[in-house]
Amino acid sequence: MTEGRPFTVAVIGASGLVGRTLVRQLTGHTPWHVVSTAHRRANERTAPLDIRDRAAVDAFVDRVVPDAIVIAAAERRPDVCEHDPALARALNVDAVRTIAEAANRHGAWVLSISTDYVFDGSKPPYRFDDTPAPLNAYGRSKLDGEHALTDTAKLGCVLRLPLLYGPVTDWHESAVTSLVPAVIASAAPDATAASMDAWATRYPTYTPDVACVIQQMLERHATGDALCGIAQWSGDEPMTKFEIAARLARALHVKARLVPQTASADATPRPRDCHLDSSRLEALGIGRRTPFDTAIVQVLEAFGARSPAACSPPACSPSA
Ligand SMILES: NC(=O)c1ccc[n+]([C@@H]2O[C@H](COP(=O)([O-])OP(=O)(O)OC[C@H]3O[C@@H](n4cnc5c(N)ncnc54)[C@H](OP(=O)(O)O)[C@@H]3O)[C@@H](O)[C@H]2O)c1
Repeated sequence: MTEGRPFTVAVIGASGLVGRTLVRQLTGHTPWHVVSTAHRRANERTAPLDIRDRAAVDAFVDRVVPDAIVIAAAERRPDVCEHDPALARALNVDAVRTIAEAANRHGAWVLSISTDYVFDGSKPPYRFDDTPAPLNAYGRSKLDGEHALTDTAKLGCVLRLPLLYGPVTDWHESAVTSLVPAVIASAAPDATAASMDAWATRYPTYTPDVACVIQQMLERHATGDALCGIAQWSGDEPMTKFEIAARLARALHVKARLVPQTASADATPRPRDCHLDSSRLEALGIGRRTPFDTAIVQVLEAFGARSPAACSPPACSPSA
């Protein structure tokens, strides 16, 4: 990086759960100059870009000439990927290759986000170099996207993440907050109890923590020490959706009636426990983990589902 020159980061998919928080984390802070894109939710702050359109991707990257590109655009809904594998491939594989090729023309570092669903969940924890074995179309498309990135980008890294939650515009943006309506409804006087999955273990990870991790990875690249290959980051509190729902009820101060569902009832096959080992990043001093009960209060308050409490986000410093 040239001294005094801003470091241009293109965030592709800035209207999504991860992209929004990352843009908020970087914007207005030296040395970052953030240029962002969205698709259906493009607005005055984000350039409209359909990553399936190669010419549009090339034109965007050639105009912006970024130092780094973060690919946060994807089709991440397992059920949609199952029913529309062509769409999953176009977004999660082909577009990753197109963006990496465009980045190569300018020597940009590319960070592509992947998922714990590349593993089958039978032998946790998973190291970054363990052999993936995805169980569903989403996991397969993301694994193919990892290969597209690592085979194409001259300077590129894949960051695998597990179940995410953070500031939302709609409860259904995250599989954690999507439980809120059922938790609240189950607390009504004559409501039936809500059945919640108690079979699969998840490691809910807070998007502001992910944004810190990505910022720390960008800082390494900015100082000429770019991380390449595969990296993983995960929260460290195991919980089933039943346990997440119970914690949501506590944070919301409602007496929810919840029933644990001990067998998998998903139509789309999902892994049981894909705990991601984060030690590669931890060894570099990268990471931050906000406790779930602290973070979820911030999310609920920001969405107006809970009265404000004296609770501010922690600084972006290495994990405890
Ligand atoms: N959410 C999770 O729990 C989770 C867990 C593990 C890994 N991940 C990974 O993390 C990454 C980010 O996920 P997320 O949860 O932030 O996803 P998200 O909230 O669904 O956001 C998806 C983003 O992709 C954009 N997009 C969709 N179709 C597009 C197209 N044709 N062209 C350009 N942009 C398009 C969306 O733009 P518009 O909304 O403007 O259309 C949006 O900005 C993904 O790679 C996902 O696989 C997510």
